[in-house]
Amino acid sequence: MKTVIGNWKMNGNIDLLHEVVPTLVQEGLGSTVGLCLPYPYLGAAHLLLREAQSGIKLGAQNVSEHPSGGHTGEISAGMLKEFGCRLVLIGHPERRSMYGETREVTARKLHAALDAGLYPVYCVGETLAQRESGKAHQQMVDELSLLAGVPTDRFAIAYEPSWAIGGGVTATAADISEMHGFIKDVLGAGTRVLYGGSVKAHNAAQVLCLGSVDGVLVGNAALSASEFLSICRIAD
Ligand code: G3P
Repeated sequence: MKTVIGNWKMNGNIDLLHEVVPTLVQEGLGSTVGLCLPYPYLGAAHLLLREAQSGIKLGAQNVSEHPSGGHTGEISAGMLKEFGCRLVLIGHPERRSMYGETREVTARKLHAALDAGLYPVYCVGETLAQRESGKAHQQMVDELSLLAGVPTDRFAIAYEPSWAIGGGVTATAADISEMHGFIKDVLGAGTRVLYGGSVKAHNAAQVLCLGSVDGVLVGNAALSASEFLSICRIAD
């Protein structure tokens, strides 16, 4: 079985939550499925999953680098744990490109998550310019260096080439296999590497069948209960 994590980004509503969670619970899906939700829905999702005694992992899409204090608008790793979060996305390409998250801040967030006992899903991936100029591997080495010395069972990597996100253009099987293999060469064969970038019900099988793919991180398709369930069934 491979892992499927839905990343709602800044989408969805409480009605969608009350549609998606029961759909996944009724399917009997467990810890191989995760939902990374906007902060306002974490409490309700935590109660729904706890009531259903479901092993589906709850996650957030970001976290503060600080444990507490005068950081208006921020959410700490401890607060996420208090609301039943197990996962947290770190360094998502959208945070880096649109919200100016620097490598240094990403590193501090990564270690804040690890220190709090969360399971970071650390998002890495090249831009189209880096790929076309042959700098994708160097970019990857630079990103992965933040995890030097961290046991591979404490985190997962999400390979999210920014040129494949949201646009409907999925990386080719060759691209995915090559980069996932490179990541495992750098961090160790035991590293779990998920692919993210326009994964849909119609292409999920071609991605999930690849040996170096341990799962997928799904954006837009996670906003449809039926399509997300289809992807989970393929991975199961
Ligand atoms: O975190 C996963 C996300 O960035 C992928 O989005 O819409 O291309 O599946 P999407």
